[in-house]
Amino acid sequence: MSDLSNRRILLIDDTPSIHEDFRKILTPTSAQHVELDEMEATLFGSEVKSTNLLFELDSAYGGQEGLGKLIQAIQENRPYALAFVDMRMPEGWDGAQTIEHLWQEDPQLQVVVCTAYSDYSWDELLERLHAHDRLLILKKPFDNIEVQQMANTLLTKWEMTERASIQMSHLEHLVDQRTAQFKQASEALQREIDERKQLESQLVQSEKLASLGQLAAGVAHEINNPIGFISSNLGALDGYFKQLQEMLDAYREAENAIGSSEVIDRLGQLRERVELDFLREDIPLLIKESKEGIDRVGRIVKDLKDFSRVDSNQEWQWTNLQQGIESTLNIVANELKYKADVVKEFQKLPDIECLPSQINQVIMNLIVNASQAMGPERGTITLRTGLEGETVSIEVADTGIGIEPDNLQKIFDPFYTTKPVGQGTGLGLSLSYGIVKKHQGDISVRSEVGVGSTFRVELPVRQSKAAV
Ligand SMILES: Nc1ncnc2c1ncn2[C@@H]1O[C@H](COP(=O)(O)OP(=O)(O)O)[C@@H](O)[C@H]1O
Ligand SMILES: [Mg+2]
Repeated sequence: MSDLSNRRILLIDDTPSIHEDFRKILTPTSAQHVELDEMEATLFGSEVKSTNLLFELDSAYGGQEGLGKLIQAIQENRPYALAFVDMRMPEGWDGAQTIEHLWQEDPQLQVVVCTAYSDYSWDELLERLHAHDRLLILKKPFDNIEVQQMANTLLTKWEMTERASIQMSHLEHLVDQRTAQFKQASEALQREIDERKQLESQLVQSEKLASLGQLAAGVAHEINNPIGFISSNLGALDGYFKQLQEMLDAYREAENAIGSSEVIDRLGQLRERVELDFLREDIPLLIKESKEGIDRVGRIVKDLKDFSRVDSNQEWQWTNLQQGIESTLNIVANELKYKADVVKEFQKLPDIECLPSQINQVIMNLIVNASQAMGPERGTITLRTGLEGETVSIEVADTGIGIEPDNLQKIFDPFYTTKPVGQGTGLGLSLSYGIVKKHQGDISVRSEVGVGSTFRVELPVRQSKAAV
């Protein structure tokens, strides 16, 4: 760090003879210098070189001139280390003012105030200049060696201060660097944690679906049989009861032909006891309700089967998505008729590679959900399609009741439903999720309570080989 060495001194004094004196003390001619060197070498040995270094002395005869020199020196990147400043200079700035200006430009500058007498008390001066640690006082008349030693010591001090500040800024730089590295590392860690969390929840979701799929397949198979015969038995029962009723009517007529009033009374009492009229009314109702019930069970089982895709032996095909949407709309037209207007915002789409009936099922689920989300007032369902690069999108937006933020997590869970028994099985969205994932696509939802929900499905135009 020897390049930090700075031997430059500025003397500001309005008396020319003072400059002469300083020059003699600080920059002896080379002859004097050699003499001095020799003397010192004999006295202290040849090691003691540093005190012999020449000073570089500049002169200014007033505060303003001194400031000018200081500014120029800074601009030339060779600042002064030390300034001797006369306290009393009648023209222009006095010493205190001069020092204030010098320090404004160069706070590093070491300063020696030279004075025989002063317009300030020392306390006032120190108070005014604040920087006690960069200020020494030299009283006139001064001693040569005193001036030399002061110059030497203060130049070394300047050097050490400079070195410390360079090291400090180096350290600060290192700390900044380390802090930035830490920040980067912690951000990377956070990203990894987030990714992991997301993967985990995807895993949970697909595991749920997989195990439910198996369960559903088994249950559907087991239940399908009894549903079949209960349903056909109910049909038969309905027919049989109609025949029984005919028979009862016939018996009723035949009662008139019975001679024994005792028998007629008994029949009458029996009829009252079993509430025959009520039975005749109620039995068909019970059968009708049972039929509806078993139909509902049948539908649930069908949903379950779709869900587990036990009988999905469909083929991947290149299909026009818009056609699929239109035909799905036709199927649910009845459901929609009284609840919502349908707005279509279709873009021209390329054919996509998919399992068409499954994709139609997704669209159907979304449209049915949208219509079921409508309140008592008629709403709007907007169907949008779009193409971005190699991905098509379908959006189903409704003006329905919306979904609470807390529930957004749950709606894709199997059997999660907020609908009354009979209306919802809670399988529609989880089924749709499975189908979309199988197509290497994405399904997402935005919703605001009381405003409506928008479900968005994104599907790749082409399936990568691994999936098909
Ligand atoms: N468009 C929608 N608007 C409001 N809520 C919805 C919408 N779609 C789905 N949901 C909520 O998600 C739940 C699950 O939907 P889904 O899986 O289709 O089952 P289900 O319709 O049989 O209840 C619904 O019960 C409902 O609470
Ligand atoms: Mg549904």
